[in-house]
Amino acid sequence: MRTLSLGTSGPQVSALGLGCMGMSWAYGETDRAESIATIHAALEAGVTLLDTGDFYGSGHNEMLIGEALRSAPPARREQALVSVKFGGMRQPDGEFVGYDARPAAVKNFAAYTLQRLGVDHIDIYRPARLDDQVPIEETVGAISELVDAGYVRHIGLSEVGVETIRRAAATAPVADLQIEYSLISRGIEQAILPTTRDLGIGITAYGVLSRGLISGHYTRDRQLTADDFRSHSPRFQGENLEHNLTLVDALQKIAEEKGVTVAQIAIAWVMSRGDDIVPLIGARRRERLTESLGALDVTLDDADLAAIESAVPAGAARGERYPDAAMAHLDSER
Ligand SMILES: NC(=O)c1ccc[n+]([C@@H]2O[C@H](COP(=O)([O-])OP(=O)(O)OC[C@H]3O[C@@H](n4cnc5c(N)ncnc54)[C@H](OP(=O)(O)O)[C@@H]3O)[C@@H](O)[C@H]2O)c1
Repeated sequence: MRTLSLGTSGPQVSALGLGCMGMSWAYGETDRAESIATIHAALEAGVTLLDTGDFYGSGHNEMLIGEALRSAPPARREQALVSVKFGGMRQPDGEFVGYDARPAAVKNFAAYTLQRLGVDHIDIYRPARLDDQVPIEETVGAISELVDAGYVRHIGLSEVGVETIRRAAATAPVADLQIEYSLISRGIEQAILPTTRDLGIGITAYGVLSRGLISGHYTRDRQLTADDFRSHSPRFQGENLEHNLTLVDALQKIAEEKGVTVAQIAIAWVMSRGDDIVPLIGARRRERLTESLGALDVTLDDADLAAIESAVPAGAARGERYPDAAMAHLDSER
């Protein structure tokens, strides 16, 4: 497995990370045994970065990862770096009821996360969103105190914009910014990516397959449950979906010519954007993991990149990447 340095202050990580969110929440039915087998298979293949959030299934995802780590061979367990987001607050039925990134809340969230994961430190700790009521210096300052106390190794950010990135980095070293980036979500290229590069901050990219939309596995007749993120995501609705799937058809032709899959093209394209970018793959099953890892062997030459750009030009997708209420929480979109 190829490894990369996550920013100038961050750890060395595998060139692909495993995002575990869908194993607990967001994409319909989950399968505990298959989820754990997928985490084990990823570690076995050399993946070292596991991403979660304490609100993914209200603690479910952290407990799942904890179980997977405990049942993994010791050498595999030791190689795992866990990246955790905090701040999202939910009520018992799962509904989101706001964000809390006050210093006292940061430390409280971290205490529970350590217990659920069954570890003595969190490798990368980050607020999931900017808390508009709390200056970022205070939130990052609290994580920095957890670093000094040995409970956290590195500080990360998530879905924040240029000003917040600069203020956070002026407070303490920031390893990476976690943010959506894919062939159809290229917003970071204008100002955010130049800023993280200027500051030596890495990117962990999520939604590389746009939540399955550009994976080549998403079909027009897919039935979604009400709690599936995609049932209310603008890109998956009506004419938007029809249009967006025509982009996938165009990618399919390129993939066929190269003898690879659409998902592999989409992942390889993100990897081709720079060694400071680590895609987080949302595989929930071993079969999908194997397909994603195959992207590591896909080389895109200039002709391939030009064909991909022409099939899916920047801004080609229809529909925002989140519903309106969730977009309002994205400091990165302001
Ligand atoms: N910081 C943030 O705000 C934020 C937000 C969202 C996610 N994240 C993190 O990023 C991770 C990845 O995000 P994501 O889940 O939205 O990404 P994604 O990889 O774009 O989407 C995952 C979805 O794609 C489908 N898929 C189809 N083919 C696949 C393949 N070969 N490999 C993997 N998945 C395939 C999966 O299918 P099936 O339904 O068949 O399993 C799943 O429904 C999350 O797990 C989470 O840790 C962070």
